[in-house]
Amino acid sequence: MAYTVPKLTDYSRAALDRAVSELLSALGNEASKVKDESEWKTFRDRWMARKNGVLAQVNDLWLKGAPKEVKREAGQKVNLIKEQVEQAVAGAKIRYQIPILPTARVNSEISEVDFQRDAFAKSGRVDITLPGIRRPIGAEHPVIKTMHEIVSVFQKLGYSVAEGPVVETDYYNFEALNFPPNHPARDTQDTLFIAGQQAKPQRERLLLRTHTSPVQIRTMEKMHPPLRIVIPGQVHRNDPPDASHSPMFHQIEGLAVDTNITFGDLKGTLDHAMKALFGSSVKTHFRPSFFPFTEPSAEMFVSCFICGGSGRRGAEPCRPCKQTGWIEILGCGMVDPNVFEFVKENGYDPKKVSGFAFGMGADRIALLKYGVDDIQLFS
Ligand code: PHE
Repeated sequence: MAYTVPKLTDYSRAALDRAVSELLSALGNEASKVKDESEWKTFRDRWMARKNGVLAQVNDLWLKGAPKEVKREAGQKVNLIKEQVEQAVAGAKIRYQIPILPTARVNSEISEVDFQRDAFAKSGRVDITLPGIRRPIGAEHPVIKTMHEIVSVFQKLGYSVAEGPVVETDYYNFEALNFPPNHPARDTQDTLFIAGQQAKPQRERLLLRTHTSPVQIRTMEKMHPPLRIVIPGQVHRNDPPDASHSPMFHQIEGLAVDTNITFGDLKGTLDHAMKALFGSSVKTHFRPSFFPFTEPSAEMFVSCFICGGSGRRGAEPCRPCKQTGWIEILGCGMVDPNVFEFVKENGYDPKKVSGFAFGMGADRIALLKYGVDDIQLFS
């Protein structure tokens, strides 16, 4: 028989306690029977409806009618009942929303993910008390992945990895790389300078390195020839961001110094590296260029690995190579003797050693490799 709130005549503690415990046992009993949304609503209203809900009746029948001496105690009991009812109503809702967990299955080898998916399929509900689905920590960023690939191609050729600071001095970024004092690259057009450096002599002024080439000098200061290094790292230029420009991007520099290094070594090394990176069928091709720190200098192109060098993709023009069949990949050249002069004391006598250097943009290569058409998507 359904529970009804009795009228209290006996307000002794024992009678009060008995009444409360009968009420709470009815509450627990009814809460445990709630199986769906509509049963829950009925349950909630029966106990909590302002008009004639069990709580309202308790208020009327037990509290209002209580003699003065026991008002306080009766009030405390009613508050307790109110809390219990609220908890039971909230608890009943959570309980019917969660599929009943067969303990045997929880303990079996079935994975959390399978189990939750299964339970969800059966009930259309998710057990919010189970641990969430753990996701793997993440994937390597495509630019970093590309840099690792490039670095590892050169490591297999016996190159070591060197790194240097992103905040660099004018000396390493420009002066020791044979940039004349008024070279346009030193202008704020291209370079992001650290503010408040005017009081210092120019060579000590700080800036965000515009290329990884300063690490050539830093490494040659520390290590005697022969030297074979690759230098991955962040660089900055004062370029407004667009689909192919970002004020921060990544380069991979290379430097090889030994006796009798020739332009043939440069070509052979880079041709091998491009085949390792883009596939054995790519061809390389060099065009004369200029960098203050290499002489002669060149830009290297690889045959377009998207259209196979034809400049077309079916009826469409090939965009990545601008229909030329060639993609510019890097700048390179033979180390200028003027650069060796800055580190001559450490064994780099330009009369005795020679070397080649190259630098490529990792972001651009990642864009091409993964067919991404906007560098901003990488940030
Ligand atoms: N540092 C040059 C650049 O950023 C690239 C380069 C590196 C060219 C090494 C020649 C040799 O454009």
